[in-house]
Amino acid sequence: DAEKESYKSRIKQLLQEKNAILIAHYYTDHEIQALAEESGGFIGDSLEMAKFGAKHEADTLIIAGVRFMGETAKILSPEKRVLMPTLEATCSLDLGCGADEFEAFKQKYPDHTVVVYANTSAAVKAKADWVVTSSIALDVVEHLDSEGEKILWAPDRHLGSYIAKQTGAEMVMWQGACIVHDEFKSRALLDLKKQYPDAAVLVHPESPASVVDIADAVGSTTQLIKASQALPNTQFIVATDKGIFYKMQQLSPEKEFIEAPTGGNGATCRSCAHCPWMAMNGLKAVEDALLGESEGHEVFVDAELREKALVPLNRMVNFQA
Ligand code: 13P
Ligand code: SF4
Repeated sequence: DAEKESYKSRIKQLLQEKNAILIAHYYTDHEIQALAEESGGFIGDSLEMAKFGAKHEADTLIIAGVRFMGETAKILSPEKRVLMPTLEATCSLDLGCGADEFEAFKQKYPDHTVVVYANTSAAVKAKADWVVTSSIALDVVEHLDSEGEKILWAPDRHLGSYIAKQTGAEMVMWQGACIVHDEFKSRALLDLKKQYPDAAVLVHPESPASVVDIADAVGSTTQLIKASQALPNTQFIVATDKGIFYKMQQLSPEKEFIEAPTGGNGATCRSCAHCPWMAMNGLKAVEDALLGESEGHEVFVDAELREKALVPLNRMVNFQA
């Protein structure tokens, strides 16, 4: 509508004036993703966002996503200004893995290689040997396992179990979960599959094992989007945040994308899988960040933490399978 269009044109102007680039995650609302496209910015999975921000020459990066994505951008590009629509946008995996508790866990396994998911604070990353995202976790763990390493994995237990199962690696695991993906239900999914027998099932590996087991493709947001293009099916049941439908539908307008069911209190819920923190990235918040009129937008990372967290992050960014 008219109000949204006027926000969008003001933001595009501000991006130009400030030599800033908008980098959005696939789970942000459709209008934010459209704005990233229209303004010459970028949409990607969390690894691609990190890589894109690090190599882009803009002075300012606007990271539309959640806090860890902004922190990663700042750690990789300390010379750039990194702004977020809101610094309040956190992640249940980050919240559930405090640095002190993590240190105590780590102390119990001194002979393990510490691999942490990108969905963590800079303080937790600073204690890791490797940072990974869902797009390269399998390859990195496979590589470490082939070198005989025992692995301490944190914080997502579903992604960790999936990787342990696929690689056979010896892994001790922190027991965190994503509040969005943890809600997908295998029984309701099997019922839905009966209604759409020809549909392929696409699942993000933060989902429970019983849901991952039903999948035709498992992977990061970008990997799921690629699977939606590559598989011959015309219908897809998708178990991840509904923000992803924007790009899937845009790339394959002739295909039908169906939301996988989630459940709370025993009831089945459709169209409920949306991260509350990703949803905080509205147009007004993006404009506010660019105007710099309010606090709570610029990302800062403590210099000592940054130096430590850069080591495992660089291993991730430079890793070739
Ligand atoms: P991707 O790395 O697949 O983009 O996932 C990030 C995330 O937060 C998933 O919930
Ligand atoms: Fe974190 Fe889950 Fe939200 Fe991704 S969808 S940012 S893992 S809470």
